[in-house]
Amino acid sequence: MESGERLPPEVAEQTEVPRAATTGTLFGVGMGPGEPDYLTMRAMRVLERAPVLVHFCKKGRRGNARTIADAVLAAEPGREYPLVYPYTTELHPEHPDYVAALAAFYDDASARLADHLGAGRDVAILSEGDPFFYGSFMHLWRRLKDRFPVEVVPGVTGMSGCWTRAGTPITWGDDVLTVLPATLPHAALVERLRATDAAVLMKLGRHLPKVRAALAEAGVLERAVYVERGTMAGERVIALKDKPDDVAPYFSMVLLPGEGRRP
Ligand SMILES: C[S@@+](CC[C@H](N)C(=O)[O-])C[C@H]1O[C@@H](n2cnc3c(N)ncnc32)[C@H](O)[C@@H]1O
Repeated sequence: MESGERLPPEVAEQTEVPRAATTGTLFGVGMGPGEPDYLTMRAMRVLERAPVLVHFCKKGRRGNARTIADAVLAAEPGREYPLVYPYTTELHPEHPDYVAALAAFYDDASARLADHLGAGRDVAILSEGDPFFYGSFMHLWRRLKDRFPVEVVPGVTGMSGCWTRAGTPITWGDDVLTVLPATLPHAALVERLRATDAAVLMKLGRHLPKVRAALAEAGVLERAVYVERGTMAGERVIALKDKPDDVAPYFSMVLLPGEGRRP
C-alpha cells in the first residue's frame, strides 16, 4: 500500500492497535469568593462533567468551597467526598505535630485521588477563590502534577471580591500592592506596610489586634477597610478605625487602598 493511502474502514477496525488506558485529569476549580454568580463558565463545565468531586473542610463543618457550589450542584454522595483537615487552627502551622499530620493528610488524599486518576476518572478539587492563590489545592497539585494531566481553572480571588464589595479601587497609577498574611510578626507587618502603597492583609482571625497595631504604627490605620465574608451571606464592610472590637472570622481581611496617580 502506498503511503498516504487510507485503509478501508473494516480493515482499519481489525488492525487498530489497542490504546494504552488513558488517565484522568486533575482539575483545580476556582470557586470564586463566595457569591455563586462569580463562578466562571469553565468552572461550571468542569463541575457538571467531572465524575469525582472533592472539597476540603474542617472536622464537623461543611467546607466553604462546597457551600459556594450549593446553588449549582445538588448533593451527590456517590460522586463527591470531603477531605477533612486533621487540624486547622488548633496548633501553630510550624508545630512539628501540625507539619507531620498535614503532610500525612495530603499524602493520603493524593493517594486516593491517584487511584481515581489512574483508573481514568477526572477529579475536580473545589477551591475557594483562585486555586493557585494560598490554596490547599496546591499541596495535592504538587504531589500529583508529574504523574497526571492537570488543568487549573482560575477563580475570582477573595481579595478581588472584597475590594469590589467595599467599592474601593485597590491600586492606581504606579501603586505597588503587597499581599500580607496577618500571621507575620508585628515588626514584619510594619516594615512591609511602610514600604508599600496598597496592601491586602489576609488570614486575619485572631491576628486582628496585631494588624490594627501594625497599621497604626505604619501611620495608615485611617485608610484601612475591614471586610468580613465578602460576597457571602453575612457580608460586612466597615472602616477598621470604626470597628469597635477585634473579633474577626476566618473569612475576613483588611484592605489598604492605594492613593496613586489620578489625573
Ligand atoms: C487560605 S486563603 C485562600 C485564598 C483563596 N484561594 C483566594 O483566592 O482568595 C484564606 C483567606 O482568604 C481570605 N478570604 C478569602 N475569601 C474571602 C472572602 N470572601 N471574604 C473575606 N476574606 C476572604 C481570608 O483572609 C482567609 O483567611
